[in-house]
Amino acid sequence: MKQEPILIAENIDKSFGSFLALDKFEAEIPRGVTGLLGPNGAGKTTFIRALLGIHPFDDGKIHFMDYELPRDLLIVKDRLGYQPEVDTKIRKTSAMRYVTHMASLAGLPRSAARQRSFDTLHYVGLEEARYRDMNTFSQGMMQKVKLATALVHDPLLLILDEPTAGCDPKSHKQILDLIADLGNAHGKNIVVSTHLLPDIEKTADYVVVMSNGSRVIQGDLKTILTQSDEVVTLQVRISGNHQSFANKMKDIGFDITTVSDNQINCIMRSDQELDNFQIFKLAKENKVNIRMMTPYKQSLEDVFIDAVTNGGNSNGH
Ligand SMILES: Nc1ncnc2c1ncn2[C@@H]1O[C@H](COP(=O)(O)OP(=O)(O)OP(=O)(O)O)[C@@H](O)[C@H]1O
Ligand SMILES: [Mg+2]
Repeated sequence: MKQEPILIAENIDKSFGSFLALDKFEAEIPRGVTGLLGPNGAGKTTFIRALLGIHPFDDGKIHFMDYELPRDLLIVKDRLGYQPEVDTKIRKTSAMRYVTHMASLAGLPRSAARQRSFDTLHYVGLEEARYRDMNTFSQGMMQKVKLATALVHDPLLLILDEPTAGCDPKSHKQILDLIADLGNAHGKNIVVSTHLLPDIEKTADYVVVMSNGSRVIQGDLKTILTQSDEVVTLQVRISGNHQSFANKMKDIGFDITTVSDNQINCIMRSDQELDNFQIFKLAKENKVNIRMMTPYKQSLEDVFIDAVTNGGNSNGH
């Protein structure tokens, strides 16, 4: 049985002065790990801040489980864990004290806050550094502290805004591994906001792509990537006059990208079976030899660029 989404955003508008940062933004976020993907300035952080009540939204509704925003903001905030994009300004203090303090603010009794903080810092890999002054921490270590803070009170939904920003390759991988482990081994519900496609591919099952304050595509990651039933994509390596052949391929409905003098990529939105015979016939007529013709799997990057550039098909179900 298909589970209800954990979070539904309906027609969210948010303006800063005359600038519309969220424009009827909609999303259905299922349980599990969801990527909130979009280029810089798409509105990811604005949506997250709207959800947390940091920047209340102007119009629309958000449903979180059985609660509704803005009505139930205080209850909802208690059930969320948030790793902000910006670095927390912290005075000279240890990670242990800081995370314990945040756990107390989230409502845990003192001793539980201390124990959970101890365990969570261990989980994120900061066991050795937990009593050190955080002013000496690297960016990667700070991201782990922020992740520990988001996790410490065991929230129902974790919201991680650019969780790998500023990390070196090693801590970048460690953080992605933690997110994947939280989702897979611990069954956590997580929204990961990022402009980095590979981070989504490594951690998420579901993706919501946004651009200019609106959703352009959402759906199960695997389904989106195999939606190629509707997108016929071929890599064709040829010898001969590739320009006239490319023009003829355009005439029968393909979008053509020239990769090199002897290779073109041909993309067509179609639910029809591809007629290979027609393509070989075209090649012959244009005195071109087809050296290789292979269906080409769309990467998330292709889907993402297509969605952001052309508006996508708005729903990947
Ligand atoms: N407080 C604010 N005042 C004015 N404009 C804002 C404010 N916050 C965000 N914006 C604008 O809203 C748009 C969306 O910004 P937002 O930070 O939500 O994007 P983002 O998708 O999180 O981008 P990034 O990947 O760079 O973090 C941007 O054009 C930004 O300049
Ligand atoms: Mg942002």
